[in-house]
Amino acid sequence: MDSIVSSSWPGDIGPIFLTEEQIQRRVAELGAQISQDYAGQDLVVVGVLKGVLFFMADLLRAMAIPVAVDFLAIARYGPTDETHGVVRLTKDLNETVAGRHVLFVEDIIDTGLTTNFIMRALRLHEPLSLKACAFLNRTRRRLIDIDLAYVGFDIPDFYVVGYGLDYRERYRNLPYLVVFDPDQAAEG
Ligand code: IMP
Ligand code: MG
Repeated sequence: MDSIVSSSWPGDIGPIFLTEEQIQRRVAELGAQISQDYAGQDLVVVGVLKGVLFFMADLLRAMAIPVAVDFLAIARYGPTDETHGVVRLTKDLNETVAGRHVLFVEDIIDTGLTTNFIMRALRLHEPLSLKACAFLNRTRRRLIDIDLAYVGFDIPDFYVVGYGLDYRERYRNLPYLVVFDPDQAAEG
């Protein structure tokens, strides 16, 4: 497995943080928990593009209840993807969520500023309830308190890519999660 990994991907990727198996096991647990919590309810699962791509797809398939699915898209002001704080909505909901339960799904919560912005935007739609689910939770750099109903994994203070998460739009398609050192990243 290791040899396949290192020969298929450039050498600027770091050690594996979570394998596909570890991810799928946890996602199955989350899906089961969410199915239990929302059984018999009208639930809209809302993801924010693009980092949530694979987590959302796997989590939805791990749910044993009929749910509606929708997406938001955001853009960050500033030179890089790592710019925090200043966010604007580039795609709002298609579904009408007023009076329905909404579960907001995120790839990773770091400072919490993005999630806080999105939760406020979602509240304007007046859902019956609003909860948040994050694949990864990095509390070390949190600037604003976020009430998280479901967490995949808590993560220390290092940058990760893969399973939807990017470094400057690359590595999203890596099927597992690796530690990534931006300082070591090859140019281009
Ligand atoms: P926050 O607003 O600081 O919570 O930023 C959250 C966003 O930053 C996530 O949705 C990601 O797009 C990005 N991000 C934060 N940490 C990482 C990481 O380790 N890898 C990839 N993207 C990250
Ligand atoms: Mg990103």
